[in-house]
Amino acid sequence: MAFGRITGWAIDLPERILTNDELAQMVDTSDEWIRERSGISARHIDGKVSEMSTNAGKAALEKAGVKPEEIDLFILATTTADKVVPATSSIVQNNLGLSCGAFDLNAACSGFVYGLVTAMQFADSGMEKILLIGSDSLSTFTDWEDRTTCVLFGDGAGAVVIERTSEQPCFLGWDLMADGSAADLLYCEHGGKIVMHGQEVFRRAVIAMENAANAAMEKAGITNDQISLVVPHQANVRIIDAAMKRLGIPKEKAALVMDTTGNTSAASIPLALIDSIDSGQVEQDDLLLLVGFGAGMTSAAAVVRWNSAGN
Ligand code: COA
Repeated sequence: MAFGRITGWAIDLPERILTNDELAQMVDTSDEWIRERSGISARHIDGKVSEMSTNAGKAALEKAGVKPEEIDLFILATTTADKVVPATSSIVQNNLGLSCGAFDLNAACSGFVYGLVTAMQFADSGMEKILLIGSDSLSTFTDWEDRTTCVLFGDGAGAVVIERTSEQPCFLGWDLMADGSAADLLYCEHGGKIVMHGQEVFRRAVIAMENAANAAMEKAGITNDQISLVVPHQANVRIIDAAMKRLGIPKEKAALVMDTTGNTSAASIPLALIDSIDSGQVEQDDLLLLVGFGAGMTSAAAVVRWNSAGN
């Protein structure tokens, strides 16, 4: 049980929106196929991780009322860094005027939850204020001639400020996992484009989400009926529906933004979380289940007690 709580949050999406109809002019597909098979209508593209992260990070700091120099640690979850070297977190650290340690964390689409678990350990060990951003520019690495992948991906960033609290714990249980034996199912070589074996990723994703979510709930000592909102990785609405069914949680409790964002990798969970917060779906003391999976194949889940009142 950890004592950090989320006190500020913000997102950033690139201006350029790519619709299904536009994609249908690029590859042999249709708006109907994409919506029915994935749940996606449009996505934002042409984003740059450092720029999206800077915008989201700046707005999250303002929302929390925290000055850049007060941040003790900055974690950037991304799998599409601007450059191989240096870490994109260094660029963003400078852009935001932070004066603290900064590092990139690559756990693909599970990156935000991996980052949250990491941040909470630092909060537990005494750090007061941590900035965590999940940001990816999958459009940079998309093969725009491959209809089995290009219809799925998009760009974005979601940032949260985590502050240490000495009152009740907010981070109740978590689970991290990776299965490197499945690394060939979803990969991108240096200088290459994303390659994916969609059906097998789909099958494994459902199981990984179920296992991670159950492990996190067990560690938190709670049952599925206590969860107010599930914030799943936004890869395919059919994956989410199948995982919710296996978890025994009504699918209406899943936060969904993929209709307009597509799969934004490490940004997808914070985009969905912040959408739910900003639209008034999250109340004080609600128990949230964040659960992701991704290339690697990584998976991660966390149970968070929402504590906007700070007690
Ligand atoms: N438009 C039209 N047809 C398409 C298409 C597209 N964009 N993409 C694939 N198809 C075709 C296939 O070629 C296939 O045709 P065939 O039967 O003539 O061979 C048919 O649709 C069915 O393909 P299939 O792969 O069985 O489709 P699916 O229902 O499994 O959906 C994915 C494909 C990729 C959407 C789905 O497998 C998926 O979402 N997988 C997981 C991806 C994921 O989550 N990745 C990120 C992990 S972090």
